[in-house]
Amino acid sequence: MIWILLGLGLLFFSKIVAGQAAIVGYTPSASPCPDGTSLVRLAGTTNQTLSPNEASYISSRKSDVLVGAWKSYLSNVQSTNVALPSYVSAILSGGNSSSSYPTLGIATSGGGYRASIFGAGVLNAIDGRNSTSTQAGTGGLLQAASYLAGLSGGSWLVGSLAQANFPTLPDLIFGTGTGSNDSFESGWLAQYDVLTPNNNTAEDSLYVAELITEIQGKKAAGFPVTITDIWARALSRHFVNGTTPDNFASNATAHGAGVLFSQIAGLSSFTSYQMPFPIIVTDSVANSENKSDIINGDVVPQGNPIYEINVFEMGSYDPVLAAFIPTKYLGSQNNSVCVTGFDQVSFVEGTSSELFNAYNVTLAALLNSTVGPIIEALNSSTPEPGIELDVSLYPNPFFGVANQTYIDTNQEYLSLVDGGEDGEVIPIQPLLVKARGVDVILAIDATSDVDNFSEGSSLIAAQNRSSHFPSAYAFPPVPTSIPGFTSQNLSTHPTFFGCNETSSPLLIYLANGGPPPGQPALTNTSTSQLAYQPTQLQAMLDQVFTIATQGYTNATSSKDPEWAGCLACAVVDRARARMGTARSGVCADCFTRYCWNVNNSQSESSNSSGRRNGAAGSSLGAAVLTAIAGLLMLF
Ligand SMILES: *[C@@H]1O[C@H](CO)[C@@H](O)[C@H](O)[C@H]1NC(C)=O
Ligand SMILES: *[C@@H]1O[C@H](CO)[C@@H](O)[C@H](O)[C@H]1NC(C)=O
Ligand SMILES: *[C@@H]1O[C@H](CO)[C@@H](O)[C@H](O)[C@H]1NC(C)=O
Ligand SMILES: *[C@@H]1O[C@H](CO)[C@@H](O)[C@H](O)[C@H]1NC(C)=O
Ligand SMILES: *[C@@H]1O[C@H](CO)[C@@H](O)[C@H](O)[C@H]1NC(C)=O
Ligand SMILES: *[C@@H]1O[C@H](CO)[C@@H](O)[C@H](O)[C@H]1NC(C)=O
Ligand SMILES: *[C@@H]1O[C@H](CO)[C@@H](O)[C@H](O)[C@H]1NC(C)=O
Ligand SMILES: *[C@@H]1O[C@H](CO)[C@@H](O)[C@H](O)[C@H]1NC(C)=O
Ligand SMILES: *[C@@H]1O[C@H](CO)[C@@H](O)[C@H](O)[C@H]1NC(C)=O
Ligand SMILES: *[C@@H]1O[C@H](CO)[C@@H](O)[C@H](O)[C@H]1NC(C)=O
Ligand SMILES: *[C@@H]1O[C@H](CO)[C@@H](O)[C@H](O)[C@H]1NC(C)=O
Ligand SMILES: *[C@@H]1O[C@H](CO)[C@@H](O)[C@H](O)[C@H]1NC(C)=O
Repeated sequence: MIWILLGLGLLFFSKIVAGQAAIVGYTPSASPCPDGTSLVRLAGTTNQTLSPNEASYISSRKSDVLVGAWKSYLSNVQSTNVALPSYVSAILSGGNSSSSYPTLGIATSGGGYRASIFGAGVLNAIDGRNSTSTQAGTGGLLQAASYLAGLSGGSWLVGSLAQANFPTLPDLIFGTGTGSNDSFESGWLAQYDVLTPNNNTAEDSLYVAELITEIQGKKAAGFPVTITDIWARALSRHFVNGTTPDNFASNATAHGAGVLFSQIAGLSSFTSYQMPFPIIVTDSVANSENKSDIINGDVVPQGNPIYEINVFEMGSYDPVLAAFIPTKYLGSQNNSVCVTGFDQVSFVEGTSSELFNAYNVTLAALLNSTVGPIIEALNSSTPEPGIELDVSLYPNPFFGVANQTYIDTNQEYLSLVDGGEDGEVIPIQPLLVKARGVDVILAIDATSDVDNFSEGSSLIAAQNRSSHFPSAYAFPPVPTSIPGFTSQNLSTHPTFFGCNETSSPLLIYLANGGPPPGQPALTNTSTSQLAYQPTQLQAMLDQVFTIATQGYTNATSSKDPEWAGCLACAVVDRARARMGTARSGVCADCFTRYCWNVNNSQSESSNSSGRRNGAAGSSLGAAVLTAIAGLLMLF
């Protein structure tokens, strides 16, 4: 009854302010599948395979783009006059057969807008299009990466970057002009708060009302909608093409509704193999999950499947599922009815940052408030057991697949949540997939551990999680507790993990661990801060540039003049091992300085987790729910 009233209210409301362009653009449609469609690809649980499209993209990128990219990167490193051993240049200039090139994956963490900014600052510092970065000897590494993975705040960065056709980071963030109604020329528009852009309660209520009306078409087409859809429409104004300062408040433009993740495959920087292959990560929850498998007060058990959404496919490489469907047919459940338009970039970004289920008082608090009955009605409109409003709902294409072990085998909908809720806030899992052959991972960490700085919790969780799937993933040893990181300053300067391993990738850990020596702390803003003025944003980016280019710092040295060379040594190290050449010269010194030494960790205390304040920040959930509750009170 209340639901019907609410529905009528929304319908009525939509007549007044509904942006038709956005409603139509956001609504998926269904049609008969092309003949011979076989939606699910089984990737294999022991000898996993990539999709043919991904394999072909990577192979073309390696042959057409990376040969030149590694050469440019090498010449940037050499311009710093570091005396590298000859194997570094032999590898990067292809002097030793193409099979010895490194395969680099970059993973950029969650942590709200702070993480988007920190990750962007690091990507800018390794971007060969920025002359300051090339002079520092770090520029060009971004162009040489095979993969770029993001989750939560990192998904806002990776998603916006990929769908905008891979512009430079300053252009992505600040825009290049006033912008047209379907471009990314206005940038992130970070000066507008994601949920309260107007600084005016009444106008902000109308704004949230507009977001809600934009998802009504999807609901009417038979897809359950949740808080994620509303959140997605808000994020779309910042991280998807189509919003400008002039049209921000307008209901006449689509604001990114209709821009699809699968559409990235058609952009010129993708068809010419110029961009690292983008991957977005999300976690899943299920009724039958093993809650005893949750670590460190996180929300998602370590054994629950991690899903990835890439340009071609969505699914999980975890051996408990190891299955995928085409991203362009997300929303489909069988081989006869193919849904399109479900894989909205905004919804993908919203899913990866859907942390509202982690907010302790989520529905309980609202149910106990004046809007409780309305929330209850919304809740009861989704009768499937286990289905909640505070998760992202995806029709489950894997129903019945891998029915021995797969926790979602009997779920009509997948319940997907923030990719950091299992504690692995850096999206490392996709880069451990053996079929991808990644041999070096640049792990960018802006997780909030202590005072919104990062102190290693994400690597601890990644280590723990990979040990659940030993046949699938090899992860290098890292400390088992936060004091294990802090006692050796592993997050205040870059640290290499896995220096002595051969079976796992080498991990280059670059954390938001503290300000550069002698500078005020600018990069530990709260996860719940959802607006940044240009001056603050620029100051943060400049400080991240220093963090990413200073290298090893200590009481006597605030900058390592060899850092660019050391980074190159780490990048080529697995390729060096394949050649059978020993580490030598500057590289040997670098590894002494930058490698975590497992033998130095006696000071670690095993049961002190140094609890961080939420994978992505529970106060963010509170802000959204308050905004939505405020809106619902209008009816
Ligand atoms: C957009 O909003 C204005 C009021 O701000 C209203 O007059 C107009 O009818 C709305 N347009 C659509 C398509 O809903
Ligand atoms: C694993 O896959 C590779 C290539 O896809 C193939 O060459 C190899 O024979 C496979 N190994 C097994 C044990 O199936
Ligand atoms: C987004 O806009 C940029 C220009 O700012 C353009 O190059 C790109 O193709 C657009 N992306 C999509 C998906 O239309
Ligand atoms: C909202 O208020 C903040 C803080 O006072 C201010 O910096 C920002 O410019 C305001 N935004 C708008 C759109 O007025
Ligand atoms: C963009 O949309 C606004 C309405 O929001 C409209 O007034 C303007 O003419 C549009 N601009 C272009 C270049 O289409
Ligand atoms: C959530 O509530 C439970 C029980 O009240 C408490 O133990 C837990 O610490 C809370 N979690 C967070 C993240 O606040
Ligand atoms: C419900 O709200 C009342 C009044 O605001 C408060 O006293 C009570 O503790 C709340 N109950 C729960 C379970 O939160
Ligand atoms: C599901 O389980 C049954 C019984 O164990 C088995 O026969 C069937 O092959 C399984 N299906 C799949 C898709 O794994
Ligand atoms: C290069 O990066 C620096 C440091 O963040 C920044 O100040 C500058 O604007 C960037 N230049 C270009 C051309 O992107
Ligand atoms: C400080 O760092 C420099 C290089 O950045 C290194 O040469 C020196 O040995 C370090 N000193 C200490 C005490 O670790
Ligand atoms: C290539 O690798 C071999 C070892 O496999 C080594 O002997 C040779 O010197 C290398 N070539 C160059 C140019 O470094
Ligand atoms: C790696 O090996 C070297 C020499 O064998 C040793 O000194 C060092 O402690 C080892 N490091 C780790 C992390 O195991």
